[in-house]
Amino acid sequence: MDGLAVPSHGLKLLSGTANRGLAEEIARNLGIDLCRVNLGRFADGEISVRIDENVRGNDVFILQPTNPPAENLLELLLLIDAARRASAARITCVMPYYGYARQDRKDQPRVPIGAKLVANMITAAGVDRVLGVDFHQHQLQGFFDVPVDHLYAMPVFTAHYRKMQLNDPVVVAPDVGSAKMARGFAKRLNASLAIIDKRRPQANVSEVVNVVGDVEGHDCILVDDMIDTAGTVTEAARALKGLGAKDIYICATHALLSGPAVKRLNDAPIKEIALTDTIAIPEERRPKNLFMLSVGELISKAIRFTHSEQSVSSLFD
Ligand code: R5P
Repeated sequence: MDGLAVPSHGLKLLSGTANRGLAEEIARNLGIDLCRVNLGRFADGEISVRIDENVRGNDVFILQPTNPPAENLLELLLLIDAARRASAARITCVMPYYGYARQDRKDQPRVPIGAKLVANMITAAGVDRVLGVDFHQHQLQGFFDVPVDHLYAMPVFTAHYRKMQLNDPVVVAPDVGSAKMARGFAKRLNASLAIIDKRRPQANVSEVVNVVGDVEGHDCILVDDMIDTAGTVTEAARALKGLGAKDIYICATHALLSGPAVKRLNDAPIKEIALTDTIAIPEERRPKNLFMLSVGELISKAIRFTHSEQSVSSLFD
C-alpha cells in the first residue's frame, strides 16, 4: 500500500471494544495482528482490562472512539493505564471520534467544559500523543498538552463524489459553523456553495431559517461532521427540496444516529447518505440509501508515518 512500506517493528495496535471492525481493518493495512487484549467485566459490571502480550519498549497505538456508552471512554483510559504500567515506550490514543466534545466552552452558567475534562482524563491516563478525525471544533486540539494529529475525512468523501456524475453540484453547509469546511469541500469538487441559516430553539431541535445560495435544479451535497438525531440534515434536505434542488446527497463523518435518526433519514428526500466508520454502526441502525466509506486507510497511514517519524501533514490536506 502507498506510503506504508516501512518496517512495523515495535509497533503495537490495541483496540477497545467500541469499533473492533475499524481496528481490524487498520491492522490489516499495516500488515500486523492486533495486540492481544483481554477485555471483560467483573460481576458488578465494572470493566476489567489485561494486555496479553509484552508491550515493553513498544510504540503502542490504542484505538477507541469515545461515543456512548461512557464505558467506551473508561475502557480507553484503562487501556492507556495498562499500557503505561506495562512500560510502553510511547502511547498514542487513536480516537476516530472524540465524544463529549460538544460542551467545549462555558456558554451558560453552571455548565461543564466536557471536552476539556475528557482531554484532561486522557492526558492524565498517560498518553504521549493523540490522533483524531474531524473534531467537532478544530481548536479542541489545544485542549491536549501533548501533540495532536488531526485528520480530515473530507478526501475520503470527495474521492467518492468525484466518481459520480453529479448535476452541477452545490455543496451545502447545514449551518454557519460548518461553512468553512463546506467551502473547502466545494473547492475540491469544483462546485458552488450554499449555506443554511439554522436555528436551534432547544438542544437536538433544528429549524432552517434561510438558505443562502442558489440550489434550484442542482444536485446538492450536504456536509456535516456528525449526524446525531438527524434533525439538522433532514430539515436541511426538506428545505433544499422546497427550493427546487434536484438530488440530495448527505455526508457526515461521525454516525451517532441516536433516537429518531434512522426514521428521519428514511423519511427524508435523500438520494444517498455517505457515512464513515469512525463509529461502528450496528445493522439495525443503518438507514436505507447508506453508503459506507472507511477512514481505515487514512488512519493506517497516519499510524505508519507517526511510527516511522515521518511527516503526517500530507494527510491533513
Ligand atoms: C452541529 O454543530 C453539528 O455539526 C451537527 O450539525 C449536529 O450536531 C447534528 O445533530 P443532529 O443530527 O441531532 O441535528
